[in-house]
Amino acid sequence: MVAVIDFGSQYTQLIARRIRELNIYCEIFPSRVSLETLREKNVSAVILSGGPGHISALEKMNFDDRIFDNFFVLGICYGLQILAKHFGGEVASGEKREYGETVFYPDPDIYDKIFIGVPHKTIVWMSHWDTVIKIPYGFNIIGRTDNTDIAAMKSADGRIYGLQFHPEVVHTQEGKTILKNFLYSICGLKPEWNPGSMLELVEREIRDKVGNGRVICGLSGGVDSSTLAIILNNVCGKNALSVFVNNGLLRKGEAEKIKGIFKDRVNFKYIDAGDFFLKRLQGVVDPERKRKIIGNTFIRIFEKEARKFGAKFLAQGTLYPDVIESMSPFGGHSSRIKTHHNVGGLPEKLHLTLVEPFKFLFKDEIRGIAKEIGVPDFIINRHPFPGPGLAVRIIGSIDRTRLQILREADSIVIEEMKKADLYPDVWQAFAVLLPVKSVGVMGDKRTYENVIALRIVKSMDGMTAEWARIPYDVLAVISNRIVNEVKGINRLVYDITSKPPATIEWE
Ligand code: XMP
Repeated sequence: MVAVIDFGSQYTQLIARRIRELNIYCEIFPSRVSLETLREKNVSAVILSGGPGHISALEKMNFDDRIFDNFFVLGICYGLQILAKHFGGEVASGEKREYGETVFYPDPDIYDKIFIGVPHKTIVWMSHWDTVIKIPYGFNIIGRTDNTDIAAMKSADGRIYGLQFHPEVVHTQEGKTILKNFLYSICGLKPEWNPGSMLELVEREIRDKVGNGRVICGLSGGVDSSTLAIILNNVCGKNALSVFVNNGLLRKGEAEKIKGIFKDRVNFKYIDAGDFFLKRLQGVVDPERKRKIIGNTFIRIFEKEARKFGAKFLAQGTLYPDVIESMSPFGGHSSRIKTHHNVGGLPEKLHLTLVEPFKFLFKDEIRGIAKEIGVPDFIINRHPFPGPGLAVRIIGSIDRTRLQILREADSIVIEEMKKADLYPDVWQAFAVLLPVKSVGVMGDKRTYENVIALRIVKSMDGMTAEWARIPYDVLAVISNRIVNEVKGINRLVYDITSKPPATIEWE
């Protein structure tokens, strides 16, 4: 496997994803990881990420330099500068940042293996302050740009490479080819990480942890929990129970759809807890309180079901980005606090042991496994839906009438996005019910009704998002249908805020 050592770059996760896309397993480690840890993990190559810092801060970083004698190494951006400085080259502190697309020229005389298939002139993505101005003894320059003479270098023995640009970023035209050359041709790695091998790893993790014990899984109908429910069923059989809780905050027809898909497929229990949730949410306006009440209610139900079933384990579909999020690149504890949890947040004292077999996987890898085990396409390709459901899309207090209005409006949004073939192009498309009324006119009569906000965003991972530029005619159809067909709505507005500064959900 490949170790990506994180020096705090905003692109570290992207490096890991690119390597996985090339069918090679990799994990991210903080910069202070020891040689022993990497050996234990059976690492064969190391990638040093970029970083936000200047090279002068390197002394403070305290990384284990024995890695250079033991693995193939590729330093990216700041990673290149670390190599240069460590092996006796010189790095000049930059006052100005070189940022954006630049033309890169692989050296035509030493046409290196890492550039096989790359043209003599190609666009790369730069984002750096400092620059290597003198290459270390025993290294060769293998590429340059118009601004930077040492944009790529390698050690004479061909084990250590450095690139000033970012091959992991899509703007680097041949980035994938370069990474592929490094991994396959230079390190001699084989592309063996595929849905089949991922599935094996997940199944082994479940077997090792749960053994002959009993496990319950909160099934929401999203791709992660659905895939997990089916795998648990395959591995643990009757010792696994998938619990689908209807919290009364689901989309139109959702409960029936999920029941239909799973009831004969896994050991399935449907719990209609709509009244219980709505009672506890009565009169609650504050978004954080809503989230806490919902999360807490879910957990109470799961603990009760686990007791009845005799389960000691609770399986969750936590993904690798959630794990990385709470890891600080320089060791120690990260100050970042994750506000979104599966099942709405876990209490400090949980009476169940967690099983999180997806915690080394990315979302697209779950989709790969889901296809492999025959999860229906409808589930694999659907947009994410938050654990607290429609509660965070009804601004203000929640009641049955408002839920009904939102359900109808939401189903029109989804239907029209699918009809226009736009559904797969966006991260999420949904309606939000606002706590304001506005005046309208319908059939010569004055109306005084509710307002719907339409939220449609594009995103890679939900961490950042851009509001989607949906064609006006599609917006017009959605607006006309909602105002005409949903009783209680006389106005629709389109949310044109990206994330940041807004979040995707309104609450
Ligand atoms: P925000 O609103 O923070 O949302 O921009 C980012 C993504 O996360 C989803 N989301 C949640 N998912 N439990 C979940 O499982 C939650 O409590 C939750 N809150 C937001 C949201 O739909 C978006 O895709």
